[in-house]
Amino acid sequence: MYYFNKKFSFTFFAILFSFLVHAQNSSKQTVEKNEALYRPYIHFTPKKGWMNDPNGMFLKDGIYHLYYQHYPDETVWGPMHWGHATSRDLIHWEHRPIAIYPDSLGLIFSGSAVMDEKNSSGLGVNGKGPIVAIFTQHNMEGEKNGTIDFQNQSIAFSNDNGETWKMYNGNPVIKNPGIKDFRDPKVMWHEGTKKWIMTLAVKNKVSFYSSSNLKDWNKESDFGVELGSHDGVWECPDLFSLKYNNSIYWVLTSSINPGGPNKGSATQYFIGNFDGHFFKPNSSKTKWVDYGADNYAGVTWFGTGERKISMGWMSNWIYAQQVPTQNWRSATTIARDLSLGTINNEFYLKSMPVKELAFENAQKIKDGKVNAQSPYKLNITNLDLKEFSVTLSNDLGESICFGYDQKQGKYYIDRTNAGEHNFNSEFAAKHIAPRISESKQINLEVIIDKTSIELFADNGFTVMTDIFFPNKTLNTIKIKGLKMGKENLLLSKIKSK
Ligand code: FRU
Repeated sequence: MYYFNKKFSFTFFAILFSFLVHAQNSSKQTVEKNEALYRPYIHFTPKKGWMNDPNGMFLKDGIYHLYYQHYPDETVWGPMHWGHATSRDLIHWEHRPIAIYPDSLGLIFSGSAVMDEKNSSGLGVNGKGPIVAIFTQHNMEGEKNGTIDFQNQSIAFSNDNGETWKMYNGNPVIKNPGIKDFRDPKVMWHEGTKKWIMTLAVKNKVSFYSSSNLKDWNKESDFGVELGSHDGVWECPDLFSLKYNNSIYWVLTSSINPGGPNKGSATQYFIGNFDGHFFKPNSSKTKWVDYGADNYAGVTWFGTGERKISMGWMSNWIYAQQVPTQNWRSATTIARDLSLGTINNEFYLKSMPVKELAFENAQKIKDGKVNAQSPYKLNITNLDLKEFSVTLSNDLGESICFGYDQKQGKYYIDRTNAGEHNFNSEFAAKHIAPRISESKQINLEVIIDKTSIELFADNGFTVMTDIFFPNKTLNTIKIKGLKMGKENLLLSKIKSK
């Protein structure tokens, strides 16, 4: 009996051991498969854990800094830190250690960073100005206890180019006046009044504050209660200027969730004038930075001069925490150069992929196989305004399709049948966007990565960004409505570094 038991238990443990080894190997295999299938080539993702909004971006000494809403311990939203990455070209990113950790005042929500070159804050060392980060601290306890003043604005400073940060000991710098949604400060330097200007999302509007030292802030004005979309809470605003025909115009963006044109999260914008105190829009039309479902909370880099570069979170709060990536969740959009354009005297914000994203070997293509083992760009040029579609598919019958619907005058991306979608009933959908340009010809630039499509139409007047999760690479292309010749579909590969 004893012998039997011993033998039995030996066999039992041997089987259990081999089962565990096998289980571990196969889960490793699925993780590796998941990485290979879904980790993008040219879009930033956190190494592991959760990411949402991009935060605190600035350019210094040729290095672009990107911070982001980050929960390192799980792949769903949780106690927020600021993750950190750097890049020289906005395409290839290097992971840096986590930059800012929650403290007794709360979690580190979204915000911005500025180079305080003249040391107006007095937080620099040896006569050199610091980098100052300005963000919301969200007090979880306060929220749980049913108070309403749990979001306050704090600052932290770095004297080693954004690598390590110290909390300012006078935090918070703006106390909550008794408003539940009071967050996401975006700060810039306003040369006209020689002041720092903060744009803050306050429930259904933005509020502007000014400061001469980044520590003491005065409220200037509110904007937006009666304009734009109000189907959700305003979040992550931005205010920046752009030149058009040698005049300066101001652009105010405000993300909103829900209420986007294709459901859930999206970013609206207004164009007008800002005098350091008030923002006056020059139109009452509601306009969207991106009509796709997956570009949220985008803001611009500090320190890029007249050039304005923005990047968004490439997801949507409807399903962001359910998408089928295993080690991490979410990517950022491709960084985009912003500019202004007009149509019948109406101003629009245009976005195009940053010029650093270079492609080469443009080749005319027809129906058939495409080499999808690296990111690529599809260009449609000189197409007379007419119906067309391009479908990318795999041999599992999964596909993503984009095109122009002439009857409706709309562009679309259809991801109804693009692979995994059961994680959320709203994911599989066709998204549409108005054609804004009045040009008689369509020009389209489409960037395809493993799990994303970014469509820039008519030199950036209409933009759509959508994510998708096929079970195999989409490597077959089918074109409808395009005749090769004058109208061309060109495919180019990303230029190697
Ligand atoms: C937007 C947002 C912000 C907030 C952050 C929290 O996606 O809700 O308003 O600061 O995410 O992670």
